[in-house]
Amino acid sequence: MTDRRGFVLWFTGLSGAGKSTLSELLAPRLRQLGLAVEVLDGDEVRTHLSKGLGFSREDRDTNILRIAYVAKLLARNGVAVVTAAISPYRATREAARAMIEAEGLHFLEVHLAASLEACEARDVKGLYAEARAGRRPGFTGIDDPYEPPLSPELRLDTGALSVEESATEVMRLLELRGLVPGNAEVVR
Ligand code: ADX
Repeated sequence: MTDRRGFVLWFTGLSGAGKSTLSELLAPRLRQLGLAVEVLDGDEVRTHLSKGLGFSREDRDTNILRIAYVAKLLARNGVAVVTAAISPYRATREAARAMIEAEGLHFLEVHLAASLEACEARDVKGLYAEARAGRRPGFTGIDDPYEPPLSPELRLDTGALSVEESATEVMRLLELRGLVPGNAEVVR
């Protein structure tokens, strides 16, 4: 029997580590299993819920705690929530975890651990180049810290793994925790 409460899959990692891409691949797969799914993506949240916030420590913390709060509301109503924000500070991620676990909900921290070198080499949005040129001060990994999780539920080297391989690992974790049905079990 699977647990029909929601849960929070909390992706953390540098810009360009693949948080959004992996979320977008996973969301339809989870829906296919019969789950209600919402993705809270940092870039998108910052155009609505966190519009006007910048990248100071205080603003990032506000952003992350807002995401955690909405994630909690959704998850306690049965939604599988995937968050995709850098969430660079350990203490703030721990605050998010505490908020969600206090509701008796699963919080699964997944570190997308592509190295800075790998993310910068790809530089999909061209932001690392801007940061190196000094036009984007306080960029995570360049001149603002990224504090890797010490004991995440899962760590994926997304610099080496394909998105497909990463998705498989995440699905396996969810199965192990009884949060999605295994291969044999069908949700109706
Ligand atoms: S967080 O630090 O508050 O978790 P969030 O994930 O919402 O960050 O937003 C990160 C995105 O904002 C990056 O992927 C990038 O596109 C953009 N960005 C703009 N400025 C910065 C910056 N100084 N540091 C990190 N990301 C930035």
